[in-house]
Amino acid sequence: MTDVRLAATQILSSLLQHQGSLSSLLPNYLKQVSARDTGLLQQLVYGTTREYFRLDALAQHLLKKPFQVKDSDLHACLLLGLYQLRELRIPEHAVIHETVELAKRLNKEWATGLINAVLRRYQREAVELDQQLSQQSDLYHWNHPEWMITKLQHNWPDHWQQILIQNDIRAPMTLRVNKRLLTPETLQNKLVEEGIDAQLGQLSSQAVILEEPVDVLDIPGFDLGECSVQDEAAQLSVQLLDVQPGERVLDACAAPGGKLCHLLEHHADSATQIDAVELNPKRMPRIYENLERLHLAEYCRVFEGDASAHDWWDGVTYDRILVDAPCSGSGVIRRNPDIKLLRQNEDLLKLASLQMAILENLWQMLKPGGTLVYATCSIFPQENERIVERFCKQHLDAHHQPLNISAGLTRPFGTQFFPQLNSHDGFFYAKLTKLDANGISEA
Ligand SMILES: C[S@@+](CC[C@H](N)C(=O)[O-])C[C@H]1O[C@@H](n2cnc3c(N)ncnc32)[C@H](O)[C@@H]1O
Repeated sequence: MTDVRLAATQILSSLLQHQGSLSSLLPNYLKQVSARDTGLLQQLVYGTTREYFRLDALAQHLLKKPFQVKDSDLHACLLLGLYQLRELRIPEHAVIHETVELAKRLNKEWATGLINAVLRRYQREAVELDQQLSQQSDLYHWNHPEWMITKLQHNWPDHWQQILIQNDIRAPMTLRVNKRLLTPETLQNKLVEEGIDAQLGQLSSQAVILEEPVDVLDIPGFDLGECSVQDEAAQLSVQLLDVQPGERVLDACAAPGGKLCHLLEHHADSATQIDAVELNPKRMPRIYENLERLHLAEYCRVFEGDASAHDWWDGVTYDRILVDAPCSGSGVIRRNPDIKLLRQNEDLLKLASLQMAILENLWQMLKPGGTLVYATCSIFPQENERIVERFCKQHLDAHHQPLNISAGLTRPFGTQFFPQLNSHDGFFYAKLTKLDANGISEA
């Protein structure tokens, strides 16, 4: 068994070196620590990552010089110590002792005095340091990378502060009821009978929001396919796509299959042909697992392929296409706080050209008169409204339709949803219809 703090240090050290993400690294380590420590491991790595920019500003202030890259493990060890002192109810002397021991276990005995001195100084001066750094350092105050703070200030002058605050609050666990099997009210009652408090969602009529996250295996009926875990804003895609019986539908960029399964829960029995395509072979099994659990596998075809290419396509055009495009994930930072560490400003340019290439290609697969819904879990206009605007300017047969929905911020192209307390993630949707030869779009 690996010691839980050593495992947390190794995960954070990899993140600091941009070698993997929390979701790729954590599962392996969860198998290596004892069963009683898995909760603590998640708390340590998610908590320290969520607070990273604040903790790092503090560490840089307290250190004479920053750690070198070869000492990323020590850097991670110190941040973990500071996190525990600030946020966890573990006696301070135990935190300091464990963190110093951890430096020894990393074979960096030379640093034990330094780690001890920094943590003890923090212990003595916590209040003064907090006041001083809150005023002096934007990184400490806003706890986000500088480029992201600047971009959000520029893009959303009326909203950036709320966005940054919401990003650092843990997201609720939201379920989507499988409407083929039960109603949200029935699921809510079943949950309450099991001692799990839950509220009905406000944005999606199929959402049930848990007061506290639980293991999915503790959710009554989860293994039987009665519900799935899915954010409320993500649940809007089916309503917006508005599929009619007998239509041909494509879910592009499909893994892990959340929106695909939602579509099938609504339309599996209505002679609708639903196809899905996903580029990443490693993510394909997640689609099949979800389809199997929800008993929906027989109702769709899943292709491993590139949505910006034609080679997987049978040449028959679609009535409806959902493009849940690869994006920065800036709307789901509260679920994936490592996005703050891993994403760089330069990534947005590359993502924007991929998003355009996917849109360009899929547009050719859409029937005249058909509808395409473009979605991302991003709050950056560069990946959202500007993509749709550019696309419409370049395609005279693309007609932008405002969403008929009384939530989110209506933009000239599409609707932007920001992360909301106790509710949905940051998300973007836009709806385009393809004009037919007579210039007529679907109502
Ligand atoms: C935002 S996720 C989709 C989430 C999914 N729609 C759901 O609701 O569960 C984007 C997906 O697009 C996939 N992807 C990235 N580039 C792609 C491409 N060129 N063609 C198809 N899929 C792609 C990624 O591997 C990822 O699984």
